[in-house]
Amino acid sequence: MEKKISDRIRYVGVNDHTKVIFEGMWPLPFGVSYNSYLVVDEKVALIDTVEAGFEKEYLGNIRNEIGDRKIDYLVVNHMEPDHSSLIATIREHYPDIRILTSAKAVPMIKGYFGLTDNIHAVKEGESISLGESSLTFYMAPMVHWPETMVTYLGEEKTLFSGDAFGTFGAVDGAVLDGGAHLCGWLDKSESCFAEFRDEMTRYYSNIVGKYGQTVQAALKKLSGLQIGRICSTHGPVWENHVADVVSYYDRLSRYEAGKGVCIVYSSMYGNTAKAAKALAAELAGRGVKYAIHNLCTENVSFAYRDLFKYDTLAVGAPTYNNDIFPPAYNFMYGVCARLVKNRKFFAFGSFTWAGASVRLLNEMAAKQGFELISDGISFPQAYSSRKCDMAAVAELMAR
Ligand code: FEO
Repeated sequence: MEKKISDRIRYVGVNDHTKVIFEGMWPLPFGVSYNSYLVVDEKVALIDTVEAGFEKEYLGNIRNEIGDRKIDYLVVNHMEPDHSSLIATIREHYPDIRILTSAKAVPMIKGYFGLTDNIHAVKEGESISLGESSLTFYMAPMVHWPETMVTYLGEEKTLFSGDAFGTFGAVDGAVLDGGAHLCGWLDKSESCFAEFRDEMTRYYSNIVGKYGQTVQAALKKLSGLQIGRICSTHGPVWENHVADVVSYYDRLSRYEAGKGVCIVYSSMYGNTAKAAKALAAELAGRGVKYAIHNLCTENVSFAYRDLFKYDTLAVGAPTYNNDIFPPAYNFMYGVCARLVKNRKFFAFGSFTWAGASVRLLNEMAAKQGFELISDGISFPQAYSSRKCDMAAVAELMAR
């Protein structure tokens, strides 16, 4: 893989195809990359590290680029272990390396690695010269943790953005967006941004989704910088699609969604499932975009992805213990935790002797400020089109 991003910037990250579940929750059908970069000038800076388990490959990547040269600085933009795990390993191999990080990361470095010496807490807007170029640091709290900062290399118009603008999906063949492709079976005919957009949405909605307000604040703060290249910690390096990814992040963090319906359902004996499929068929018949997810069989991350894509959410859940069937309750808990707003909402579900789920789903949605498109459909025992007039619901959604 081409490691040269520019004369000064080298890619030294790794691709992970063995981790099945990221953060213990999110599947990785296309793998994931942990990106790390060297900035090589009179002095050398290493930007972030990678996940544990890649020590040999990572140190080899570094040596392939700079041989036995020393590294002067380790910039720690973000302390989540997928990027910080090898801080102590780097210090072991480069004992004089000076760590540059935010004040909030300093106690985290002590807590994770017991390191307290030769660490400099940079200030907002502080610059460190590497020779002909310099690194400038901007705090970006809660994008994605409170200690998060980003690093700007002005001479290269390059932003080392941490998780921001990152995606799931490994980048084995090439890391630059002129040549990077999502690993796996997808058609490769579209642009790199189009190819990665769904995995970027799934990454954003599941990991950063709660922090729309702080992402907006960071975008505003960084809007004055000339950015010609974004080196994120996950996925491609953006050069050709900088405007696309910045505008997409802006849209995601404002919870703006396109017209369409995200149908999520849970079902014990198939009746609520039949209602969900009837709604999908009615929407399809009217040319309305939709996605449909079974919360009992799929990882929920795909449903959250489509929650962020579409402006209408339809949730199906039977009544269980006089409450919402747990898979749907858990999903709705996650919707609320992500502070999602500006959605239209519709609830449906079956019951046998007393219905509660639709009323309770509506209450959760109303608290979230969603617009209920109707009172929902709570139906007894078996599904039938007479009990569930999904044609009428689809009409409302098609407006
Ligand atoms: Fe990729 Fe928040 O770590």
